[in-house]
Amino acid sequence: MSYSNQPSPNDVGVAVVGAGYWGPNLIRNFLASDTTWLWSVCDLNMDRARQVLGRHTSVEVTNDLQAILDDPRIQAVAIATPAGTHFGIAKACLEAGKHVLVEKPLALSSIEAERLVNVAAERNLTLMCDHTYCYTPAVRRIRHEATQGTLGRLQYIDSVRINLGIVQPDADVFWDLLPHDLSILDSILPAGIQPTAVSAIGVDPIGAGRSCVGYVSMTLPGEGIAHVHVSWLSPVKIRTTIIGGSHRYIVWDDVNPAQRLSIFERGVDVSTFQTPDDQRQMMVQYRSGDMLAPALVESEALADVVREFADCIRTGRRPLTDGTSGVRILKILEAVDASVAARGQLVPLEQQSIGALR
Ligand SMILES: NC(=O)c1ccc[n+]([C@@H]2O[C@H](COP(=O)([O-])OP(=O)(O)OC[C@H]3O[C@@H](n4cnc5c(N)ncnc54)[C@H](O)[C@@H]3O)[C@@H](O)[C@H]2O)c1
Repeated sequence: MSYSNQPSPNDVGVAVVGAGYWGPNLIRNFLASDTTWLWSVCDLNMDRARQVLGRHTSVEVTNDLQAILDDPRIQAVAIATPAGTHFGIAKACLEAGKHVLVEKPLALSSIEAERLVNVAAERNLTLMCDHTYCYTPAVRRIRHEATQGTLGRLQYIDSVRINLGIVQPDADVFWDLLPHDLSILDSILPAGIQPTAVSAIGVDPIGAGRSCVGYVSMTLPGEGIAHVHVSWLSPVKIRTTIIGGSHRYIVWDDVNPAQRLSIFERGVDVSTFQTPDDQRQMMVQYRSGDMLAPALVESEALADVVREFADCIRTGRRPLTDGTSGVRILKILEAVDASVAARGQLVPLEQQSIGALR
């Protein structure tokens, strides 16, 4: 590969808005990518943006979004500002003809997110959400197993995402952490399968004014269930997801780089039969087979997010985590809010037409 300190005509010209905690990761990956050229970073705090870029850079810094919108070199904008600003900034960018990558959550409501999807569709622009986990090697492998049918029928998903987390000023633990699990679920469920109802309990044992510990259960079609435990109040960091299928089980332990994934050829089969005296009997058989720990090539998921964004802009292909997946996730988050307010009551989810949305 030859390196040039000039943009090539094929490079997607990019700006990043927001250089706080997460923005620098996007900036680093856009700078490292051989398909994008970072022209500008916009942050209300220009000193912060300058500090992130360092002294030896030609990337411009501004605190004026309009300068980004007016710049014809910039074809695409990545937004890493607080969630409450996503809708306004994304809409302005789309209306100015820019492709948009938005941090999770896409917006603060599914209505806002649907408006962004419509504006992008009307203008033939790429709208993508940075649901980073969907691009990790582990989730790619889980998606492969799920979509190739090697897992069998999905029986359950059980996820724990807990640590001593930052109590967010503008979000509860559900809106902070749950989008990760919901986006993973959305990306591995076969097309046409979506959660049908949600029950959630959230508690605030430290008086933070918002849920800090939460438990979410989602029913899936065909007797399946997904359960997620999120918490900012755990002394240990646990990032474990178990995916149960009728043929195989997968255990994903994201804090164990030596063995993130374990695929178990194990399971339980139940069959029923009639005895001669007309009694219905049940036979339970336990299958015990090998455990496979696949070799995953370690790569930075955000580099793949950037690659996917640039590729979709150039080809017009829909991103894996497009705006409509952001809408589906927001609809579940809204149902979680409604269920928490009703102390865990089961809230049905509107079934979206997958064909129309995927
Ligand atoms: N994908 C992930 O895994 C991941 C991880 C962490 C955070 N995030 C998301 O990234 C987003 C940003 O989170 P953060 O923790 O970096 O927040 P942050 O508060 O650390 O940084 C936000 C930055 O945006 C700037 N800003 C605010 N409003 C602005 C505006 N109107 N125009 C320009 N700049 C503005 C602020 O000055 C600040 O520097 C959130 O949506 C969050 O959910 C995603």
